[in-house]
Amino acid sequence: MSIHINAPAGAIAESILLPGDPLRAKFIAENWLEEPVQFNAVRNMFGYTGRHKGARVSVMGTGMGMPSHSIYVNELLRDYGVKRLARVGTCGSLNAGIKLRDLVLAQSACTDSNVNRIRFRGMDYAPCAAFSLLERAHRSAVDRGLPVHVGPVLSSDSFYAEDPEQWKLWARFGVLGVEMEAAELYTLAAKFGAQAIAILTVSDSLVTGEATSAAERETTFRAMMDVALDTVL
Ligand code: HPA
Repeated sequence: MSIHINAPAGAIAESILLPGDPLRAKFIAENWLEEPVQFNAVRNMFGYTGRHKGARVSVMGTGMGMPSHSIYVNELLRDYGVKRLARVGTCGSLNAGIKLRDLVLAQSACTDSNVNRIRFRGMDYAPCAAFSLLERAHRSAVDRGLPVHVGPVLSSDSFYAEDPEQWKLWARFGVLGVEMEAAELYTLAAKFGAQAIAILTVSDSLVTGEATSAAERETTFRAMMDVALDTVL
């Protein structure tokens, strides 16, 4: 038991998939896991453990943004001994060459959050994906014939930015997409000696203003799930 996860010790697998939306976690459990057992319902942040192709795996929602994500990831690492974490989510494209529904593997995560500035007393930490997971995810995506990009993302604290042009500065420095969790995930995984990766599908483009439909998101979500399971198992 931890403050936000009321699961007994041993109820959570060493490999876990982390969507933002708890109903996505339920959908993943129902469609990709054999014999899923629910381990959390505190705040309706559903979590499940089951098997995929014989290997034990968990899935849990973390909510949106780094403060919420951090609470769950801290407890998963510190209290449940989770070792491999794959965020499965969406990002906004910051690059004309990165199209709706493409996959983005976040090699590193810049941030406009102050969380690491506070943690590292004003100095800058460079949150990075685990190379082993990055390599596996990339190979899986290529083998599956999926359009995939590897590079830095921006983990932002604001979905609705005050300055609608701010993303262009990050884009000029090679940042591929914007999302809201990877920097904290990577930092915490490093702290606890675990491995993490953020596997993202492009849901919208800040370059063109286009966005995917719900039906399109469903199809690309399935492809991302296949890559994520190849990666953590
Ligand atoms: N901003 C932040 N997070 C996101 C976005 C975005 O435009 N799209 C998908 N996740």
